[in-house]
Amino acid sequence: MLCILMILTIASFTGAVSTERSVEKRATAYQLVSTEVDWYNAKAACETQNSKLAEIRSQADLDAAIQATTGYSRPFWIGVIDPQEDNTFEYATGGALTFSNWMSNAPFVYNQVSSVVMYPGSGEWENVGTYYTFGYLCVSDTGPGVSGDPHMTTFDGRPFSFQGICWYTLFKDCSSSNPDFEVTAEFEPREDSSIQQVRTRTVSVNVTVGGDFVIINRLDVVAGRADEHMTEARPIHVHKDDKTITLTFTSKDTTFTLHWTLKKHSLRVSIDGSDYRGHLCGLLGDDDGNSRNDFLTPDGDVVYDATEFGRSWEVEGKKCD
Ligand SMILES: *[C@@H]1O[C@H](CO)[C@@H](O)[C@H](O)[C@H]1NC(C)=O
Repeated sequence: MLCILMILTIASFTGAVSTERSVEKRATAYQLVSTEVDWYNAKAACETQNSKLAEIRSQADLDAAIQATTGYSRPFWIGVIDPQEDNTFEYATGGALTFSNWMSNAPFVYNQVSSVVMYPGSGEWENVGTYYTFGYLCVSDTGPGVSGDPHMTTFDGRPFSFQGICWYTLFKDCSSSNPDFEVTAEFEPREDSSIQQVRTRTVSVNVTVGGDFVIINRLDVVAGRADEHMTEARPIHVHKDDKTITLTFTSKDTTFTLHWTLKKHSLRVSIDGSDYRGHLCGLLGDDDGNSRNDFLTPDGDVVYDATEFGRSWEVEGKKCD
C-alpha cells in the first residue's frame, strides 16, 4: 500500500500535467547503487538514505524500475524475501506480494532464506541466497524535503544525507540573479551527536517571497516584510495546528506547499505548476525530472560528493559553528 500512496503523492507534485511527467518522476524516485553487497546490507544501505529497497508492487512499478536501471548489466537486489524458506515471498517491509515477475521455473527451492534479484531490461525476477552480493535498487520513501538527521530527497527523487551545522538554501528560483523566492533552513546538532559523529536536524525555516518573509523557528512563526514601503498583500499563507505548520506561496503558475512537522524535524515540499521546472537550485535540486544532475553547486558544477554539494549551499553571511 505504501507504494500506491507514494505514487499519489508524486502525482500531486506534478498537478495538472501530463502523465508522462509522473512516469518520469517515478523512475527517478528509484536509485540504483552498483556497490555489490549481500541482501541485508543492501536493505540497510537504502534505509540510511531515507529510502528502502525497491518493492515492486505493480506493472507500473516494474516499468519505472526497468526505466531507472537502463544500461546496467547485472542483476540487482529488490525488497522481496522468503524469510520462512517455504517459497512464500514477502516484501522487505512485510506483507504478501501483490505482483511478481518470475523468470521461467522461478522461484527456485532452496533450503535457506532466499531473496530476489531483478534483471535489467527484462525486469525478470530470480531468487538466490541472501549472502550473494549484488548492486541494489532503492526507492525514495517520501516526497521531496528534509527530515530526520537530515535526510533529504530532491524534487527529482534523489535521496542523500548531509550533516551540516548552519543555514542552507533548500531551494530557490534560479532563473535570474534576483530570485522570486528562496527557502533556507537551519540545521543544528542533535542531542545524541558526538564529536566523532555529528548528527544534525532542521530547526528553523526561512521562506522569502519577494519582499515578504516567514520564519518558522521550531513552532514559532514570525512574518514580516524586508521592504517596509511595499504594500501588496502577503503572498505567503501560513496554517498552523498543534503539530504541523503548512506554508503555501504561489509564484508565476506554481504553488509551493511546505509541511513542517517539528516532532520529526521534517519539512516536505510539493510543487504544483511547471514554470520553475528545471529552474530551481539548492539542496533539493532543479526539478527537471533527471536525478543524475541534482548535485549542482551555486557555481554550476555537478559534483558527486553529498558533503561537498551540501556545503556549497551554505547561506553566505550567516554565523555558523
Ligand atoms: C531570510 O532569507 C532571506 C533571503 O534568503 C534573507 O535575505 C533574510 O536575511 C533571511 N532572514 C533571516 C532572519 O535569516
